[in-house]
Amino acid sequence: MLLTSFQSQPSGGAMRYPELLEAAASLIAEVGMSDRVDLGCESGAQNRLNRAQMDSLSLRTRILGAVPATTATELFGARLSLPIVASALCASRILEAIAAASAGGTLSRPLPWDGDYLEAIAGGLADAGTAMSTGYISEEQLARVVDCGAPVIHIVKPHRDNEWVLRQLERAEQLGCVAVGMDIDSSFKEKAHDEVPAPAELTHKTLEEMSQFIAATSLPFVMKGILSAEDAVVARDLGAAAVMVSLHGGEVIDHARPVLEALREVRGAVPELVVLADSGFRRGADVVKALALGASAVGIGTLLVLACAANGRAGVRDLLAVLEEELGRTMSYLGCPDVRSIDEGVLAGAR
Ligand SMILES: Cc1cc2nc3c(=O)[nH]c(=O)nc-3n(C[C@H](O)[C@H](O)[C@H](O)COP(=O)(O)O)c2cc1C
Repeated sequence: MLLTSFQSQPSGGAMRYPELLEAAASLIAEVGMSDRVDLGCESGAQNRLNRAQMDSLSLRTRILGAVPATTATELFGARLSLPIVASALCASRILEAIAAASAGGTLSRPLPWDGDYLEAIAGGLADAGTAMSTGYISEEQLARVVDCGAPVIHIVKPHRDNEWVLRQLERAEQLGCVAVGMDIDSSFKEKAHDEVPAPAELTHKTLEEMSQFIAATSLPFVMKGILSAEDAVVARDLGAAAVMVSLHGGEVIDHARPVLEALREVRGAVPELVVLADSGFRRGADVVKALALGASAVGIGTLLVLACAANGRAGVRDLLAVLEEELGRTMSYLGCPDVRSIDEGVLAGAR
């Protein structure tokens, strides 16, 4: 049944959200990776709490006199068709397993993407008119991703070799990335279900080291993994241009607080910074809530892995088209003609 809806696509029609998820689910099940989607860590309570808190905020429509909304926006000087970008991505065990099964001749259908899946994802984002973000990848891979044409935000890992970090920052600038940054929440120990199998190379950076990294680049620096006003203020004082409120997909600590709750606090603490958010965003209405609480854009990670598993570059493009449509429709009904006009007033019962 799931496979049937996937196979009904070869005529070239765009895939809708349920079709994308069903096609991804069937292929992921085929390679025995179903239990690796949306893992979180330990109990997974933070992802359930995050979802529940996101769902608990409802939206106030203001329809009379409203006009169709445009979702276009700008981030780090790049014009985007919508305020939804890729979260930092590197190797995906799920997509690796699908590629390995295809190479071994055991996949029941052709591999959904050509070549490197990160390039397929970056290509789909370029087609959709939005930005890619990269994580723990080599300089060579970064160059190939940049070549795909989407604006790229490169989030460097806190590798124990500071020269490696500085080389990555420099290379990102040479390649024309629009921003760089570091995920501060992957430094203390192996995450319970990390997608990256080499955490021993990572370490916790001192404030002096962070300051050195920020000073080493002329690009806006994004501090990713902020969940409190205290960290946001330190990030600002160190010279970061942006903070990303993130649970790292729930992989850092069990019982981490919900991202929209933290976003409200962080936005209040550093109103002068660009504030981004990721973790658990699944539909257009989720994104509206983050924009209402002050985010300039929202990152998606898991959804891009699923869209790529479903139909490679075209799957990513179709996913972004669905999200843009959902976001635009929701904004129109909320009386928000553009991204800039979304504020806390769209949230019912907002403090
Ligand atoms: C395949 C994959 C690879 C990832 N690699 C990185 C990485 O290298 N650096 C990083 O900061 N975050 C990485 N993340 C985490 C994402 O940037 C992001 O925080 C998370 O996926 C957002 O939650 P979501 O998956 O619910 O959208 C990765 C996520 C996935 C799914």
